[in-house]
Amino acid sequence: MNQSTNQSHRPQFQTKRPISNYEALNPTREDDDSIMDGFHYKSGRRYHFLDGVKYPLPCDTDETYRLKINYSISRYCWQGNIFYSPLENELAKGGMRVLDVGCGPGGWLLDMATEFPNSTFVGVDISSMIPKDQQPSNLGFLQCNIHNGLPFPDDTFDFVFMSHMFTSITEDQWQDVVDDLVRVAKPGGWIELMEGDYMNSTAGPVTREIQTQLTILMRSRGINMNIGPTVYKYFENIEDLEDEIFTGQTTTPLGNGTVGELAFKNYKASHFAVRLHECMGISKQELENMFKISQKEVDDCNTVLNIHRFYAQKKISSVKSDDSW
Ligand SMILES: C[S@@+](CC[C@H](N)C(=O)[O-])C[C@H]1O[C@@H](n2cnc3c(N)ncnc32)[C@H](O)[C@@H]1O
Repeated sequence: MNQSTNQSHRPQFQTKRPISNYEALNPTREDDDSIMDGFHYKSGRRYHFLDGVKYPLPCDTDETYRLKINYSISRYCWQGNIFYSPLENELAKGGMRVLDVGCGPGGWLLDMATEFPNSTFVGVDISSMIPKDQQPSNLGFLQCNIHNGLPFPDDTFDFVFMSHMFTSITEDQWQDVVDDLVRVAKPGGWIELMEGDYMNSTAGPVTREIQTQLTILMRSRGINMNIGPTVYKYFENIEDLEDEIFTGQTTTPLGNGTVGELAFKNYKASHFAVRLHECMGISKQELENMFKISQKEVDDCNTVLNIHRFYAQKKISSVKSDDSW
């Protein structure tokens, strides 16, 4: 692991509290904040407030816009290859059923549904973000909490895709979620995961300090920000999957050029969206100042975020216990 922070280069910023104020992200009903109909409103932003849902990012118009931009950056960084599972021909022939789990505003689904008009695409997400008037006829959406189980029978989809969900799934929940992705895939179908690696990159000291603080904050909610490169291990425990796990990797620059600058802006916005400053016990302006330095650092250090893909095939004859023996 490339940890560029060392004691002599520790940043000068001191948080007002030695330990992050995790409670800032974990409101209770006694708080002054407004909690209504499963949502928590704070500083003009709307967040989920549901049992078992640890997702810390908002669900509102600004976040929908941020996720759309994220998807465009991701597509660019993968040079337009938006899936790796070997299904191109089948999708083009048609009749395939495809599921995107945690589809957000549906950038991936809309691209896929347009490119493969004879196959059927379904997205699920806890928030409904895909504009109805933009949904082609081969695209459907279901609002659900994936931690209650995917609302589909076993063996339904030829392709099950899930990307950038590491802030939505606690370490304890990961295996159940991946088991469920495999359950709803048809025998012979493919399951593909794509996740980023938040920390493992060359970074300057202030950038690293911000990353460390966010990592601590997320850990307080059970979320491992560095799980991206190892999510394949959840495939390894599933008997219904073929042994071979295929991989792909790319990077997103966090500076140095137009895409990097856009990525940095989006990345920075996500830290304010989870109210990292409150958790660190510093003002918004102090976090802004840290990001000003970080923006220079990412250029100087050529900081990138690594993005990983893992995909595997469900066995054609899936392993089911045979009660007759
Ligand atoms: C970082 S976004 C990723 C969106 C999309 N997959 C992408 O790659 O652009 C995480 C998504 O997970 C959704 N999400 C979070 N918790 C969820 C849950 N418990 N059930 C279903 N969706 C959830 C959020 O609403 C959000 O759209």
